[in-house]
Amino acid sequence: MNLANTSVAVIGGAGLIGSHTVDLLTKENVREIVVYDNLTSGKIEFLKKAFSDQRVKFVNGDVGRQDQLDAIIRGADAVVHLAASLLLKCRAEPIAGFDLNVKGTLNVMQSCVDHKVGRLVYASSTSVYGDAIEEPMTEEHPFNNMNMYGATKIASEALLHAYHHEYGLQYVAMRYTNVYGPRQGYAGVYMGVVTRMFDSAERGESPVIFGDGNEAYDLILVDDAARANICALNAESTDRGYNIGTGVKTSLSEVAEMIRELTGCKAPVVYKPRQHSATLVRNRVASTNRASDELGFRSTVALRDGLERLRQWRAANPWAIGLTVTPA
Ligand SMILES: NC(=O)c1ccc[n+]([C@@H]2O[C@H](COP(=O)([O-])OP(=O)(O)OC[C@H]3O[C@@H](n4cnc5c(N)ncnc54)[C@H](O)[C@@H]3O)[C@@H](O)[C@H]2O)c1
Repeated sequence: MNLANTSVAVIGGAGLIGSHTVDLLTKENVREIVVYDNLTSGKIEFLKKAFSDQRVKFVNGDVGRQDQLDAIIRGADAVVHLAASLLLKCRAEPIAGFDLNVKGTLNVMQSCVDHKVGRLVYASSTSVYGDAIEEPMTEEHPFNNMNMYGATKIASEALLHAYHHEYGLQYVAMRYTNVYGPRQGYAGVYMGVVTRMFDSAERGESPVIFGDGNEAYDLILVDDAARANICALNAESTDRGYNIGTGVKTSLSEVAEMIRELTGCKAPVVYKPRQHSATLVRNRVASTNRASDELGFRSTVALRDGLERLRQWRAANPWAIGLTVTPA
């Protein structure tokens, strides 16, 4: 859609991907950006830069509250919906995970239909595919998921598809791979490992890998993932899922070695018995062709450069990862 003079609501906009999306939206010719977030995992400080732009407004609200959602979506031309429980939280609290990830998304969808929102960009995940059966994983890859989190994303995509056909909802589903970068903490089961490896390496201690280190993922820098959301807002395609990754697979051993090199850590990587459950993905790499062809999106930042950005951000913002108490 043409974003000129539009109002865009970003639900979950104080989180990792959301806050970067808001930063990039301030570079677009939009009229207003409304961030809607209950700050359970997001941080208001992540919006500090964005708040210097008068068009950015913050509303503290919950996707479980249809009345609150309606109040902000009523005036929106487009919505980016990112609020969700991540994998470990969904596993620990499946009913709450369903309520937030599925019912919450349904609330957003209903509000978008009721208020004739022109475009909804939904944060899905490559978790829908589970472990790779074929590589690279195209959008036609079977839904081989085995965990609660992935199930909530599959359910939400099924509901979006139905809402498109029944009620004319215009949407795209963004299947991000593993998103890392500035503002990341410990919450993500896969990228939390990266945070902990940095913690150890910066203290000069061995980064620890549980398993043989051969688990391999497609890591995309959050700036790139956020830019994909902007591409998706600007595009016209609808009722479609898109992989948002780099197409490059990197093993945890390789990630650990890069972190040692970037931090100057001399201690070797230590391998300990795997603790991961069988429902976690051990092998993932996305095909990037559809996003490139239809959204005009390609990732631009190589992993080493992205990890260096993360290292610099951690050094400048130790409070954000709990290493000190207050923001500088
Ligand atoms: N980070 C990744 O690697 C990754 C990969 C694939 C998909 N995703 C998806 O992308 C989306 C964003 O992920 P993220 O890493 O930025 O997570 P995040 O936890 O940093 O962001 C989620 C945001 O939603 C907010 N939120 C949570 N519950 C809410 C509620 N009930 N009402 C309103 N706001 C609420 C949180 O406060 C937070 O700001 C999620 O839907 C996630 O499933 C993330």
